[in-house]
Amino acid sequence: TKQFAPLVKRILTDGKCLEGGILKVDNFINHQIDPELLKQMSIELVRRFAAKDINKILTIEASGIAPAIMMGFLLDVPVVFAKKKKPSTMSDMLVTSVFSFTKQRSYDVCVAKEFLHKGDKVLFIDDFLANGNAAKGIIDLINQAEAELVGMGFLIEKAFQHGGDYLRGQNIQVESLAIIDSLDNCTITIKE
Ligand code: G4P
Ligand code: NA
Ligand code: NA
Repeated sequence: TKQFAPLVKRILTDGKCLEGGILKVDNFINHQIDPELLKQMSIELVRRFAAKDINKILTIEASGIAPAIMMGFLLDVPVVFAKKKKPSTMSDMLVTSVFSFTKQRSYDVCVAKEFLHKGDKVLFIDDFLANGNAAKGIIDLINQAEAELVGMGFLIEKAFQHGGDYLRGQNIQVESLAIIDSLDNCTITIKE
């Protein structure tokens, strides 16, 4: 496993364990954002996907947008974020349903056809990979658009929720900068 040391260090310093296997990273990713760390993480993700031809970054609102923008800036490609509510002003949309494990209910995720088309070479970026339901929804949207999924990059993967196993099993290049094996007993265990 390739752990990105600056992120691992920060998780161990500032990350907090919550009940139910949730890692709170509000100090540097999910509420307050550390732009310098975000830049370093994005440079590392760009390096890991350097062999790939990418013409678009795709993410889901809200927390994925910050890392996605940094990636789009570095790769000089547009950034599209899928929306969680269908805007009333948009008609030509691709829509998929995502089951939220945390909220125990499904929600719609959509993207305008105008911004995801056939032939697009898409890199998906998000803050967390847990069960991978959001990622599965994104794959469905990409398939509907007849675009090509080039890879999926995450800041933090929670290996104990196995979304990463599923995606890698689909032959997708999945890169996670920090992989967490367990959050049991309020202890953050980083994968070896
Ligand atoms: P899944 O997509 O992998 O199946 O994840 P799940 O339904 O379990 O997670 C739903 C939301 O919770 C996602 O954000 C996801 O990024 C976030 N999440 C999952 N595990 C953790 C965690 O341990 N810590 C934190 N901080 N977030 C986690 P979202 O609800 O779509 O919202 P947003 O924050 O991106 O707006
Ligand atoms: Na997210
Ligand atoms: Na989140």
